[in-house]
This record gives sequence, structure tokens and C-alpha cells, in this order.
Amino acid sequence: NANGMKAGKTRSIIEKMEETGKNCVVFYGSQTGTAEDYASRLAKEGKSRFGLETMVADLEDFDYDNLDAMPSDKVVMFVLATYGEGEPTDNAVEFYEFVSGDDVAFSESNEPALGNLNYVAFGLGNNTYEHYNFMVRNVDKALQKLGATRIGDAGEGDDGAGTMEEDFLAWKDPMWAALAEKMGLEEREAVYEPIFNIVERETLNKESAEVYVGEPNKMHLEGTAKGPFNAHNPYIAPIAESRELFSVKDRSCLHMEVDISGSNLSYQTGDHIAVWPTNAGEEVDRFLSILDLTDKKDAVVSVKPLEPTAKVPFPTPTTYDAIVRYHMEICAPVSRQFLATLAAFAPNEETKAEMAKLGGDKDYFHEKVSIFHYNIARVLEVVGGGKKWTNIPFSALIEGVTKLQPRYYSISSSSLVQPKKISITAVVESAVIPGRTDSFRGVTTNYLLALKQKQNGDPNPEPFGMSYEITGPRNKYDGIHVPVHVRHSNFKLPSDPAKPIIMIGPGTGVAPFRGFIQERVQQAAGAAEVGKTLLFFGCRKRNEDFMYADEFEEYQKSLGDKFELVTAFSRETSKKVYVQHRLRERAKEVNELLQKKAYFYVCGDAANMAREVNAVLAQILSEERGIPETKAEEIVKNMRASNQYQEDVWS
Ligand code: 2AM
Repeated sequence: NANGMKAGKTRSIIEKMEETGKNCVVFYGSQTGTAEDYASRLAKEGKSRFGLETMVADLEDFDYDNLDAMPSDKVVMFVLATYGEGEPTDNAVEFYEFVSGDDVAFSESNEPALGNLNYVAFGLGNNTYEHYNFMVRNVDKALQKLGATRIGDAGEGDDGAGTMEEDFLAWKDPMWAALAEKMGLEEREAVYEPIFNIVERETLNKESAEVYVGEPNKMHLEGTAKGPFNAHNPYIAPIAESRELFSVKDRSCLHMEVDISGSNLSYQTGDHIAVWPTNAGEEVDRFLSILDLTDKKDAVVSVKPLEPTAKVPFPTPTTYDAIVRYHMEICAPVSRQFLATLAAFAPNEETKAEMAKLGGDKDYFHEKVSIFHYNIARVLEVVGGGKKWTNIPFSALIEGVTKLQPRYYSISSSSLVQPKKISITAVVESAVIPGRTDSFRGVTTNYLLALKQKQNGDPNPEPFGMSYEITGPRNKYDGIHVPVHVRHSNFKLPSDPAKPIIMIGPGTGVAPFRGFIQERVQQAAGAAEVGKTLLFFGCRKRNEDFMYADEFEEYQKSLGDKFELVTAFSRETSKKVYVQHRLRERAKEVNELLQKKAYFYVCGDAANMAREVNAVLAQILSEERGIPETKAEEIVKNMRASNQYQEDVWS
């Protein structure tokens, strides 16, 4: 493990804070890394603005039964994401069960139990989901009930409205003011203190075996990779097959088969596969160049934490190139707060002022940066007029640029049909943004497209003009591989194949349903009785982006009238036709199937489609059953609670 975790470390947060001289811990409950990122930003800001001795901690790494012994001159911050249908993130499950339990047992017997605890809370949620910011709301309630004192308001960030970053910024300033008052902190001129020390290792070069150059799983290269393969340890999977389902101008759809037979990985129909991406060469070059590190990109460096609670987020010694290519989210839209931090390191006063303005003025930032989705290097280029930014300590970038995270895709195959081969269905799009000279491209989808092109014989694939390291660090992969792991989901077929199912999956939202239908075809072939299998699929045009059309014809032959595909083509007529419109046309049948306990599934876009489908279903129930809409909405809610209604949606 590269995280610098030591054996025998304490699970007592109080002991840890005492040992390391901290008075503020920022706990995070994070699934995809955003909450973790916000937690470290809070910790950094507390340190630089108020001289707080902060540390960041994974909720999973500590016990909570001694929170009652936390001295009242310390503060505990919670940054908690709500995951999926109102669930704690994996690393926060135990904590949540502990604090929200009926009889929380603490190590001492104070009255009230958490009378000494001062805490701060911020939640990350998505208002398109039913249980918006469930985690922070419930944890806040539980802590209040136990007598703890909250400082400032409990903040709520909304990914659904796309305002997460601004919600966070708007919440934190009043919180800091309240905290400063409560703890008697003096605000000071922010001073940057690096968390990592970067030492160049002149005696090493990138060929040396001990130098990490980005191999996602070092043991793979030695032929000794062992599971479990998970979010800390990907399996380097061969790609068995890849093809394009359609391709038009700046949009194409990939179908990829990933071979997991060499591993002990397994999956179930409806699960997700995580793909560990690599940044495009052009973006790596741009980033290194603006920092004036191009000539040093292969220099070997050791990165060491300057303070005991910090973890280096990649193995070292390594190279600048490997850090940037495999570990930094350099293509993501940059945050306003990060620009404010970097102002101090601007190449001249004019640039410094401009950076401070971008960092401080929300509207200005929106107009100059946000609407273009510029990444960090682009902003540094534009604002600095092309001057190199040689004053930024590399530590500030390791701290400030989000960690490159795996991306999750709904698996589009059935584990019953192909237990050791996972298929991925992904649309690669390059979005044209008015006023921006190049287009905005997805990191992982383009990487996958490059892998596909290489596998299909293109020696130098450059999807949309981007190049990727494909054969892996040190050119070690024999054949085309992709680092992956599997994440279990609750999006599942009914265990009884005779139960009817209704599936709503426009675009790549159809992915898991291809798996569902494959599974039913297999079950029917094995003489099982299969229930009605009704799929609503939508795309732009029949002749353009109707993916798997030929397969669906085959499924039709196998399942006969048990399978029905209802299509909605949105760009064939002057009027938009969407899946929910088709659903509505089938009101009577849909209602009858639901009364026969059909399962109802929605997969795809969370912000609009899934929400509208939910509303249409309530209307259908109301009309067909002659009940008020409020009652119908209640029924839909209950269907969700009992898993009769399941969603696999993304924003
Ligand atoms: P559009 O792009 O023509 O608007 C897959 O992306 C399909 O989903 C496309 O046909 C797309 O149509 C459609 N789509 C876009 N917004 C939608 C919404 N709110 N509800 C349902 N389908 C939608």
C-alpha cells in the first residue's frame, strides 16, 4: 500500500490527535473522492487562515466510541457524501450505524454523552434523488440528540443543480467566522505551508526498477498480482473485444468486452465496473509545460509528507510525468478556491490580481472560466498570457488538484451468460462549447476509444486528436489492457424470472438492460418461465444512434411476445419524443403489469430523464387507478422503498 499507512497505527482519533499535536480533525465519508477533496480543502484553509492544527481522516480508519472523550477545545468536522438512494458511502457505513443507532455506547458515561463535542458538518448530495443529503441531515440530527454542539450551520451541497462548489464556498465563510468566535481564533494573512517535500533523486532514472512510473498494479508486471481487486488495487484486464456500435461526427458509442478470467473477480448482472483512466498526453504536456517542468518530466522525485497525518497519494520515488498522467484530475474544470490559492504564486503582479479576482468574484469566474469548463493548465495559460508559472510549489499541486478517480460504468452483460467477461457500453462525445476554440472531452471515454482503436489495428490511435499511453508504463502490457475493478450494486433483476419487468433506458442507459434481457433469454432457453420483459429505449434517430438494434431483434426471436421493445426517437420529427412519452401511451398496460408486481427500472440521466419518468409514472397510476396524484406519488415512493422501483442513474 502506497498510502504511507503504518502497521499498528492507533484507531483512537484522540490518541492520534494528541500524538501529532492536532486540534481539528476533518473526517470524510466519500465514495468518488469529492468529499475527501473538500475535507482536505477545509483542513488546509483552517491551517493557513487560522493556524488551526488540522488533519484529514477517513471515517473508516478510526473508532467512534470515544468521541465523548474529545476535549472541548478541539473541533471535529464531518464532510459527508450521500450515496445513491440515500445510503452512506462505503467508508461511512459503520460510523453511520454507530451514531444513528438506538443505544450508542460510548467509552465514558457523560451526560449528555457528547456534551463536550464541537462539530462542523457539510454534506454532498444530489437533489434529484429522493433522500437529498440524507447523511449529513441524519448525522447532524444524531449528534444533536447526543448533546454535541454544532458550530455554524450544517451545509448542503447539491450536485443535482450543479452548484456543489458554490454551495460549499457559500457555506464555509460563515462557518469559519462562527468557529473563530467559538474557539477564539485570530484570522491571519493566509500563509501557505507545503504538506509534502519533493526531493529530486539525481542518482535514479525512470528505468530503475524501484521507480514508480504509473503501473496501476506493480505486481501485475511481475506476474504475481493477487486479489482482492478493489478500489485500492485494480486488476489489469485484457480487452477481449471492442467495436463501435455507432459513430457519427463527434459522437460514437463503444462496446468493449473485458476479460476477467485471469482474476478472482466476479460480478452480478446490474453491477458496475470501474475503469482506471490515464490522462491524454496533450493535457499532461500542457500541464507540465505551463509549470516549466517539461524538461524535468522524467526526473525522479521522492515525495515525503512533512507532517505525520498526511498521506502521499501515490507510490514514490516516481516521476513528475507519472504523477500527472496517472494521479491528477488535470482535465476537470478548475475550482474558484484553487485559483485564489494559486494567486500567491503568479509570475507577476498583474496576473496575481487577475487570479485573486477570479478566485473572489463568483460571477467573474463564471463568465471567464466556468462556462468554458477550463481545466487548471488552461486557466494558467490564459491568465498568465503564456508565462510559465515557476513559483508554484509542486506540493501545492499535489494538495490542490483532485486525485484522478476511477470511473464507473453500468455493466451491459449478464453474469449468467458470461461470468468471466464484462461488457462496457460507453458514449464518447466531444462537446462543443461556444467561445472555446477546442472541444471539451471526457477523460475515460476517450482513453477507452484509444484502446479500442489500438486493438483494432491502429498503430497510433489519436481519438479526436488526443494520444494515450496504451501499452502501459514501461511498455509492459502484452496486448491491450485496462485497469478495472467491480462494484456491487443493488440494481437487480427479480430472483423469480417469471416476474414481469419494465425497463426505461434511453441512450447508454440501456446498458444494464442489455444484460437483463440476455439473462432472460438464457433463462428461457433453460426452460424457465420468463415474465413480460418490456423495454423503453430512446435515442436521436433510428439510423444514427440506435445501439444494439440487431441484438434486440435476436432477443425478440428468442423470447417471442415475452419481450417488447418500445422506441422513442427524439430527433426524427419536429416534436421531441422521449421514453416517458411512450411510457404514458402505455399507461394501461404499465399499470396492469405493476399490479402484477412488475419491477420497474430506470437507468441513465438523473437530472431530467429519471425525474420526469418518476413524475409520469405517478400520473399514470393516478389516472389508471382513479386516485389523487398525491396518493399516486406516495405509491411510487413506497415502490422505491420496497425496491420494486430501482434506479441506476448518473449526473
Ligand atoms: P435529445 O438529445 O434529442 O434531446 C439518449 O440520449 C436520448 O435521450 C436522446 O434521444 C435524447 O434526446 C433523450 N433525452 C434528452 N433529454 C431527455 C429527457 N429529459 N427525458 C428523456 N429523454 C431525454
